[in-house]
Amino acid sequence: MTLWSGRLSTPMAGTLWELSESYSFDHVLYHHDILGSKAHVRGLERAGLLTADECRILLDTLDLIEGEFASGLFVRAESDEDIHTAIERRATELAGDVGAKMHTARSRNDQVATTLRLFTLDALGDVAAATLELIGVLEEVGERFPEAYLPGYTHLQRAQPVLLTHHLHAHAWALLRDVDRIADARDRMSVSPLGAGALAGTSLSIDPAFTATLLGFNEAFANSMDAVSDRDFVAESLFDLAMIGVHLSRMGEELVLWTSAEFGFATLGDEFTTGSSMLPQKKNSDVAELARAKSGRLVGNLTGLLVTLKGLPLSYNRDLQEDKEPLFDSLRQVVLVLAALAGAYRSIDFHSDRARAAADDQFLVAIDIAERLVGTGVPFRQAHERVGRLVAEALSRDVSFEQVVAEQPELSTYSDVFGSGQAVRSRTSPGASGPLAQMQQRDRLRAAIAAASARVS
Ligand code: ARG
Repeated sequence: MTLWSGRLSTPMAGTLWELSESYSFDHVLYHHDILGSKAHVRGLERAGLLTADECRILLDTLDLIEGEFASGLFVRAESDEDIHTAIERRATELAGDVGAKMHTARSRNDQVATTLRLFTLDALGDVAAATLELIGVLEEVGERFPEAYLPGYTHLQRAQPVLLTHHLHAHAWALLRDVDRIADARDRMSVSPLGAGALAGTSLSIDPAFTATLLGFNEAFANSMDAVSDRDFVAESLFDLAMIGVHLSRMGEELVLWTSAEFGFATLGDEFTTGSSMLPQKKNSDVAELARAKSGRLVGNLTGLLVTLKGLPLSYNRDLQEDKEPLFDSLRQVVLVLAALAGAYRSIDFHSDRARAAADDQFLVAIDIAERLVGTGVPFRQAHERVGRLVAEALSRDVSFEQVVAEQPELSTYSDVFGSGQAVRSRTSPGASGPLAQMQQRDRLRAAIAAASARVS
């Protein structure tokens, strides 16, 4: 029997059933759906629509059903179209007419919106925790190699040396913004749609603010039509997840480069690499490649949902059921990548010698010489031009840059800039890549991590 057997006389066509059933993927919402139903039932009692006894029977029944799901003993009936119908059907089986009262003053439209918000609030909390974990690992890796430095790149051309900690912290700051974005999204989605009914509310005297409080939402909806049709919170979550995916993808690409023989800056632990079925010597950074690759489907999930939402008339439309699979997929993929990358970074061996040799590339101090000239009153543009010519001269004569600089009488006292690590030590401006600035940055990062953790815990 369907929920609408009073109205429609023939059973649903098999092909429509296949197309429209959502239990196969939305059963994962059981816990949050039951939370929503328990609050609804208490709201019905408060409104005088259920007796205290009926309320208690329903709460016990819902607990029992939760137990069935948790232990894997819940049996889906053939007619269970989605998680909501499955739970209501089972409640009616267990509690008879009292079970049949549970859906009073409620529609699946406000129910699914409530359930999905509760689920998403929790799931994003898990993503934030996993993101903070990876941020912690980046800090740990930096602390393991406190003196290490490497070339910083622009256009993937060697630019200026940077401390490894500075480099890793750059990723940490990006991930920290992701955590903050999740906190913002959670604040915005903390609005209960329960009580909006199908779209227009109800003639029965329910109190949406009461159930909103029971469920821990910040507030109840203001407009019942908006409440059942709004999936901004899913789109926003998908954006936040895609943004994390993009950050992880960039980190993955960097690990691919670092672990190549050409860079040779790092090796991942064997447990985070794969071999080749044919080439015996291979050690591949698949973890980094998959981190890079997953961003594609994360962006796809966001794009897909936005296209689904575009052009939908108010209020609920069945199209909205298509919100779940992309959301579930993005949540799962992001958590998988966060955990695997955390492990991969934890296993990293950073080859400080090799990175130092690359960062001590003499041309990387060209700017230091120009800045010395600026210190003597030479306008920067002229200093830049002058040093640029010396670089070109070294290249055309095929002699070292240091030698060409030493040959210039007024630059002959600048030889100390060529000292190993000198260029990174002299990056002292606030937020710069040198050790002094780095210490201040570390304090600021730790404070930001504590603030972000507090927002999402
Ligand atoms: N399973 C549906 C969804 O996820 C909820 C049911 C609302 N369906 C309906 N025909 N009003 O959106």
